[in-house]
Amino acid sequence: MKIAIMGFGVVGGGVGEIIRKSPDGLLSRSGEKIEIKRILDLRDFPDSPFTCFTKDFNDILQDEEIEIVAEVMGGTKPAYEFTKQLLLAGKHVVSSNKELVAKHGTELLEIAKEKNVSYLFEASVGGGIPIIRPLYSSLSANELTAVLGILNGTTNYILTQMIKENASFDDALKGAQEKGYAEKDPTADVEGHDTCRKIAILASLAFGKYVNSEEIKTEGITKITLQDVAYAEQIGCVIKLLGMASKEKDGVYARVCPALLKKDHPLAGIDDVFNGIMVQGDAIGDVMFYGRGAGSLPTASAVVSDIIEITKQKDSHIRLGWTEGCEGYLLDSNQQKFRYYLRVSGNPETAKFSGCQVITVDKPEFSGEFAILTPVLSGDEFEVLKNTVAASFDILGFIRMVAE
Ligand code: HSE
Repeated sequence: MKIAIMGFGVVGGGVGEIIRKSPDGLLSRSGEKIEIKRILDLRDFPDSPFTCFTKDFNDILQDEEIEIVAEVMGGTKPAYEFTKQLLLAGKHVVSSNKELVAKHGTELLEIAKEKNVSYLFEASVGGGIPIIRPLYSSLSANELTAVLGILNGTTNYILTQMIKENASFDDALKGAQEKGYAEKDPTADVEGHDTCRKIAILASLAFGKYVNSEEIKTEGITKITLQDVAYAEQIGCVIKLLGMASKEKDGVYARVCPALLKKDHPLAGIDDVFNGIMVQGDAIGDVMFYGRGAGSLPTASAVVSDIIEITKQKDSHIRLGWTEGCEGYLLDSNQQKFRYYLRVSGNPETAKFSGCQVITVDKPEFSGEFAILTPVLSGDEFEVLKNTVAASFDILGFIRMVAE
């Protein structure tokens, strides 16, 4: 089986390494020896053990021997055009590109179906964690009702470094970049866009209709402070960046935001680059997926597994996907209910808000401020309460709390 790799960065390098180091070219696991015939990248790699580099996409597109292409370039340009042309030419494509899948997955899957080839993207969510295949295969007996996950290794690494090692945000981010976890532009990680694309893919697959990532309310971790972490600790919670989606009667709720989790929540202990995803099904109940969510070899593990999956059934289309969404399918997330943590400056003695719990931290640096934990409120109800609080106190920040 001759394959090509498009993009020889962190993930592409890992794909090359896994295949090259396998003594039999993964023959025993795939039934065919897998051979890398071409690697597309505009850069030069004089020290690489590979000699099959090309800068010309046509060397892959027009090579009839190449049956599977791993698109690990990232971004949509030129990955979208390349993927489309490869599928139209009857080649299978596997991808780690969450941006592309979230934006153009519906169309690309449709082309793959028409051309009787496969478009697989296990590596697009959760790095090395098997989550895409379980959703369309192992859990297919279930009506899935919710997906909740820590889906970004970089931000989880940063939060863990800040909380456990007292690292600054910038130092922690630098560490994540050095380890190959962060996106080229780490804004996508820290502002939650990467998590947003991933929860959009999971929600589309889990509930069967396309969820457009561009419509999902998304907040990142840049406003989280060490003070927030201390208040969270005071009430037995940790702060995690979550992607969440749930199926309701008339559509789905989806959101990305930092959230307080009780320490006994199954996602609370997931630290460093690890990702964790909880899926709820009507027959299975809760099921949990856990593993390394970013990095060269973990992500490449998922890419190569997709290649092996295709070699086992290369003459057919592996069916996965979703149908087009419809107007109003993504519900107004303001109606979704949460408890809220609200940090304010002022004297806690004077805070009297019905149903709210006042939290203080008994340390000199926390004098003159406190936090409030609200009852369960919709977004609109919270706005009303926030305005009432703001009439007497300066608001320093707020975070949602996810119930156990
Ligand atoms: N930047 C991503 C992360 C890479 O940190 O999770 C894996 O998708």
